[in-house]
Amino acid sequence: MAKIAVIPGDGIGKEVVNEGVKVLEYLNSTYELGLSFKEFDLGAARYLKYGELVPDNVLNELETFDAIFLGAVGDPAVEPGILEKGILLKLRFYFDQYVNLRPVKLYNDRFSPLKGKGVDEINFTVVRENTEGLYAGIGGFLKKDTPDEIATQEMIASRKGVDRILKYAFEYARKTGGKLTVSDKSNVLTYAHNLWQRAFKAMAQEYSDVETNHYLIDAITMKMVRNPEIFDVIVTCNLFGDIITDLGAELQGGMGLAVSGNINPDTVSMFEPVHGSAPDIAGQNIANPLATILAAGMIVEYLGHEELSAMVDQAVQSSIDNNKVTPDMGGELSTSEVGNHLVKVLKELKGDK
Ligand code: NAD
Ligand code: IPM
Ligand code: MN
Repeated sequence: MAKIAVIPGDGIGKEVVNEGVKVLEYLNSTYELGLSFKEFDLGAARYLKYGELVPDNVLNELETFDAIFLGAVGDPAVEPGILEKGILLKLRFYFDQYVNLRPVKLYNDRFSPLKGKGVDEINFTVVRENTEGLYAGIGGFLKKDTPDEIATQEMIASRKGVDRILKYAFEYARKTGGKLTVSDKSNVLTYAHNLWQRAFKAMAQEYSDVETNHYLIDAITMKMVRNPEIFDVIVTCNLFGDIITDLGAELQGGMGLAVSGNINPDTVSMFEPVHGSAPDIAGQNIANPLATILAAGMIVEYLGHEELSAMVDQAVQSSIDNNKVTPDMGGELSTSEVGNHLVKVLKELKGDK
């Protein structure tokens, strides 16, 4: 038995989560996984009506779930940051989901934006630190709204926080047989990223079987575009991980394909697409649900059903290869049609057509 909390959120979040749940419900009934679902109406509507973001009783209830499935939050009617910090970051921090695992995988050469780089070259994973860095929310305003105003925003790197994400990344690289790249700005952030450098070098000694290297964050964006094949696993701080995974999303064929797991094996983990609520296309049934369907795959993997997660990946591969995709990927299907197609392919993969 596993309980999944579903938070559709705002904009296309609702539309894509529908399709993710469709896939999970199919897997649940076909393979008797014993999953149960409960929906939570966190997001702009609740905030605008009641001024509530994540009330304490909801936080307490979420603690009793095995995983959270999130669409996206963010709405043009709400000042930027309120829903993002008050819901998404709140959950990441409250549940101490220190790993943000973001695979970057190109499924089909025709979606590569890079000349000469295909599925063999674009396939790596970003391990983003998810609870510290510039996201710590420390800072403030001096002389606010005067010409002399100064705003500060502090970056936090604790040795324990850095060590635990590095350990996860080293273990991940060891398990997948890949090289581990660390990326930082240690030439300028001579406190926070000096700590990262020292911690990385110390841990590399313990993992002498894992090949390692280092790029400064500006240089890594260049390498990601020019030589993506050199990467297997990249570990980096919170903000840099955020930025390079949007770049990664484009390398793999677009925001509609990029998936993300916010993980802490000891608390409650949360799975979501990397993209946001996309107000520009919301309500049209054209949003690409594949990233969210891959998040559904990550959930079943997290719950111990690796073979089913591999099947979801295969079904996504098939839908891309056969052009059963939404308009952002050049296809003609709607959001819900892609979800239906995915379930159809999963049935075929099982053998009962
Ligand atoms: P976005 O990811 O929502 O959209 C960026 C662009 O990509 C848009 O043109 C959009 O149409 C397109 N796009 C995104 N997802 C798509 C999909 N599944 N299918 C097809 N096209 C897709 O980023 P944004 O516009 O910068 O942000 C919009 C709102 O979402 C903001 O409020 C932002 O804070 C929020 N946001 C939330 C999350 C989250 O909840 N995890 C993540 C990022 C942004
Ligand atoms: C992401 C998003 C969030 C982040 C925002 C919405 C807070 O961009 O999940 O990548 O910066 O982590
Ligand atoms: Mn982001």
